[in-house]
Amino acid sequence: MKAWLGKSKILFLLGILTLVLTGCGRENLTAFIPKGYGAETTMNLIILTTVVMLFVFLIVMVVYIIVLFRFRRKKGQEDYVPKQIEGNKTLETVWTIIPIILVIIIAVPTTIATFDLASEAGSNEDDAINIDVTGKQFWWHFDYNDGDIQTSQDMYIPVGKKVYLHLLSDDVIHSFWVPSISGKMDVNPDNENTMYIEANEEGVYWGKCAELCGPSHSKMDFKVIAVSPDKYDEWVEDMQNVDPDAEPEDAVAQEGKELFDENNCIACHAIGDKPAGQGPNLTNYGNRTEFAGVLDPTKDNLVDWIMDPETIKPGNKMTGNYPDVSEDDAEKIAEYLMQLKDTEVTPDSVK
Ligand code: CUA
Repeated sequence: MKAWLGKSKILFLLGILTLVLTGCGRENLTAFIPKGYGAETTMNLIILTTVVMLFVFLIVMVVYIIVLFRFRRKKGQEDYVPKQIEGNKTLETVWTIIPIILVIIIAVPTTIATFDLASEAGSNEDDAINIDVTGKQFWWHFDYNDGDIQTSQDMYIPVGKKVYLHLLSDDVIHSFWVPSISGKMDVNPDNENTMYIEANEEGVYWGKCAELCGPSHSKMDFKVIAVSPDKYDEWVEDMQNVDPDAEPEDAVAQEGKELFDENNCIACHAIGDKPAGQGPNLTNYGNRTEFAGVLDPTKDNLVDWIMDPETIKPGNKMTGNYPDVSEDDAEKIAEYLMQLKDTEVTPDSVK
């Protein structure tokens, strides 16, 4: 009775866990609803291996059940020892060859897909998009075509085109993962890894760091925003023409810009075509989907962040590296940053 209670408890817990965990997925954060070439290829491999596995499982179970009933000990056979046989050549051959065939069925498409998804062919073409991706504790920098465009956190790409990524870390090992579009790739400090991504339809796709990299690893989110080729061209042109010194229109934001300069925020946070600094490049900040990885880009959240980033994102590189800012000043800086909208091509334009 006691053992059964234990089992029912475990079953109950498993049931609850299944129920709760099935709610974890988001449409644009799951490998099971592929929206890109890499994710589709991976999904096909998942289906193939599952079918092969089920095939083996079913055959083994059928044989197991037949043997269980057909050859069980019957009444009056308590001392009966069945005839001992071994070394049936046909059987040995069959159950050696079948697994080899199954492994080949899995290995060939997997190998082809692995080489295909790592292919750099095309990255040297004139109109190729190459992005240097830098992983940093705990955010991402994106440098398009050797300094053509610099931005952070929101990566814009055109639908239906291969985008070649060159991944390198500035500190510890991270892992670049946009489940809806492609598989994971390690981002190492000392050797560049490459991959390409290709989105099939417009959308805002969630990206995650998939390698434990410090206290705020779970907050190292980013987005890949896939837009139509026309909108992408528009975005590129707008981003290439950003004026980092542009004066904001309203007075509060102007004061904010002055405070931003006075407090030397610019030393870490570049605006315009500057390489990755200590903190995220803030070009086009006003159009970000989120900031600090996980916060809604509201003014209140931004003020909270400027005043006390450590509570929000433990272990970040901003804490302690800038002068104290009053709430009043933080509000003005927030106002300035939120007005940094350098293009009409925004995440909202693809929703
Ligand atoms: Cu970067 Cu986890």
